[in-house]
Amino acid sequence: MKGIILSGGSGTRLYPLTKVTSKQLLPVYNKPMIFYPLETLLKAGIKDILIIVSPEHSDDYIKLLGSGSEFGARFTYEIQDKPEGLAQAFIIGENFIGRDCVCMILGDNIFFAEGEPASGGEDPLTKAIKDFKTGGQVFAKEVPDPERFGVVKFDVNMKAVQIEEKPKQFLSNFAITGLYLYDNRVISVAKKVKPSARGELEITDLHNWYLKQGELKVDIVKGEWIDAGTFESLFKAGELARKKIT
Ligand code: G1P
Repeated sequence: MKGIILSGGSGTRLYPLTKVTSKQLLPVYNKPMIFYPLETLLKAGIKDILIIVSPEHSDDYIKLLGSGSEFGARFTYEIQDKPEGLAQAFIIGENFIGRDCVCMILGDNIFFAEGEPASGGEDPLTKAIKDFKTGGQVFAKEVPDPERFGVVKFDVNMKAVQIEEKPKQFLSNFAITGLYLYDNRVISVAKKVKPSARGELEITDLHNWYLKQGELKVDIVKGEWIDAGTFESLFKAGELARKKIT
């Protein structure tokens, strides 16, 4: 399985913090933000990782992360010229992905796994990534502010029935987090996606394609999850990271 960290975008919601640097390089307690999603991939044994960055900050990423050897991994870099949607990552990453399946994580998404089981086993998220074989798999989390996210509605048996990007009408409290597992078909599906009203290739269209095939698995994330893209959530992420470490 290949890994992608999508770390583009202009981070306008965090202005002026992002005036001279990339959102995903901002500190979250004692590390740059991108270290957290990177560690999520590394923990799951993913060693071949494509880091997609905006043109303005590519040199900073290379300075910070280098070849990957320091992390026991191999990093490849690609530029996303404009923030034209998350699904674009699979088009940019086509050659890198090759014939493999792929785990994409957003550079501002932080997962604090549930406490490591006493037995010394893996946390459920790491296990889910390692066990993935085919289809699509996403991870939902109950949140108080679902309108900020892609949202999934479940039926009484907790089977996903509807997925919408930032729904205007309340759909459910389950946000879809920024970690996605797809098989190789994702490349051709992404190429068929049309830009949404906000001009982006929406990742939600990919989820919906797999949902329609009856091949989308939606798990509930048991640990903590933060999209650190706002002042509030960035602050909360730092607090949580501090609590986990100290
Ligand atoms: C993106 C996705 C959304 C997802 C969220 C998770 O939103 O489009 O479906 O719930 O990431 O962080 P964005 O942060 O681009 O607004």
